[in-house]
Amino acid sequence: MKILIVCLGNICRSPLAEGILKHKAEEAGLSWQIDSAGTNGFHNGEPPHHLSQKVAIKNGIDISCQLSRKFIRADVKMYDRIYAMADDVMDEIRQIAGSDFVENKVGLFLDELADIRNKNVPDPWYGDEDGYHEVFELIERGSSAIIRNYLTPKQLSNT
Ligand code: 4NP
Repeated sequence: MKILIVCLGNICRSPLAEGILKHKAEEAGLSWQIDSAGTNGFHNGEPPHHLSQKVAIKNGIDISCQLSRKFIRADVKMYDRIYAMADDVMDEIRQIAGSDFVENKVGLFLDELADIRNKNVPDPWYGDEDGYHEVFELIERGSSAIIRNYLTPKQLSNT
């Protein structure tokens, strides 16, 4: 399975999500390809924000080798599943994809969690370090749910 996770800058939220989901997929023995991108392209070629890197490494995940890249229309065809970090990102994806947009391929990352009211991962870009810890926790919960939701029907069908 090829998964793309998208935020605005691809330096704060989606690099964390790429790192966390990769880590959890490996732990679960799933050989998924997981990448991330940003809709605005302002930080093309840059590594993740230092606070995203700091929070990740504190939790045993190294995201320092990632580089920001812009989300492009062709990504919709390239990936099996695309997750947007928030509604505004979803709107941007829809705009960039144009007529290539595929409704059932693209969804909100936190939609995988049934028990959460606000489905947007907040943008920590303008805030302090606390925001990055909050974002890490939300993304970790969302990543666990993605793996759980993927595995559960399979396990049931095997019994
Ligand atoms: P991200 O955060 O979408 O989580 O990577 C942002 C980073 C940079 C900008 C916006 C959001 N920016 O406008 O430069």
